[in-house]
Amino acid sequence: AEDLLMSYKGILYPSILCSVETFQALETFKARGDDLLVVTYPKNGTNWTIQILHEMVSVFHNSDPLLDATMIEFGDPEILAGFEDRPSPRIISTHLNFKNIPKSFFQKKVKILLVLRNPKDTAVSFYHFYNSLPALPSYTSWDLFFNDFIDGKVSYGQYFEYVVDWEKNFNDETMMAILFEEMKEDFPSSLKKISEFFQLSLSEEQINLVASRTSFNSMKEKSDNTHGKLGDSFFRKGEIGDWKNYFTEEQSKVVDAMFQKYLAGTKLGNMLNYDKYCK
Ligand code: A3P
Repeated sequence: AEDLLMSYKGILYPSILCSVETFQALETFKARGDDLLVVTYPKNGTNWTIQILHEMVSVFHNSDPLLDATMIEFGDPEILAGFEDRPSPRIISTHLNFKNIPKSFFQKKVKILLVLRNPKDTAVSFYHFYNSLPALPSYTSWDLFFNDFIDGKVSYGQYFEYVVDWEKNFNDETMMAILFEEMKEDFPSSLKKISEFFQLSLSEEQINLVASRTSFNSMKEKSDNTHGKLGDSFFRKGEIGDWKNYFTEEQSKVVDAMFQKYLAGTKLGNMLNYDKYCK
């Protein structure tokens, strides 16, 4: 199972999807000023957000742009050339750590939406994902997965290091962060924030249309078309707080201590609303 993951610059990636050649080719990726970039740690709402932006762009431009839910770092380097043929605005998404984002996204001041989710639900969602995706190793128990999650021995590395890296480099001019839990609890106002950030001004009616097309149920129903056989893996529960069904008291304390160490009192740490969602 070990060979299902590869290491690049100290971080693990799924070897079926990622390669050194593509990482190197990404260094010269040509971003465009009007790209919309979604950045997420895995399981933090990537597919949800891509679909939201897709619907927003479709409604705003009255068009039907390509829906591409694969990460920019997946596939052969040749796939990257295909991005140059895509019409603007392009919706691009990645799980890459801040350091590995192609520099041209910053040079072109591309708007970047960072989607965050509380670490405990992230871990549980990731555990199920690992066990349902052939491309990722399987775990015989939650406890074993938890240990690797904490040690950063999972695809895309350690959750807290990922978030801290964005925290340290957060630029309010070009970046916005949104919380999975906030989207769940106040969807219309989250959608409004996202649309304003990307200057896709939408009427209330249009926001409601986007909301109905991107609800968990509607996305799950469409998942045969959007994700083929993998649909059930990507649309599992879509809830807040499933961690309570998995975490032991001790595991919960380990994550609480890491939150304290890495994120307490920081801008993104505050945004996580940790006490509300992780206690
Ligand atoms: P769960 O495993 O907790 O159900 P990603 O797209 O980054 O892989 O994230 C997957 C997680 O987002 C899964 O969490 C999935 O169910 C949830 N999700 C996907 N679409 C959603 C939606 N429209 N509303 C709420 N949650 C959604």
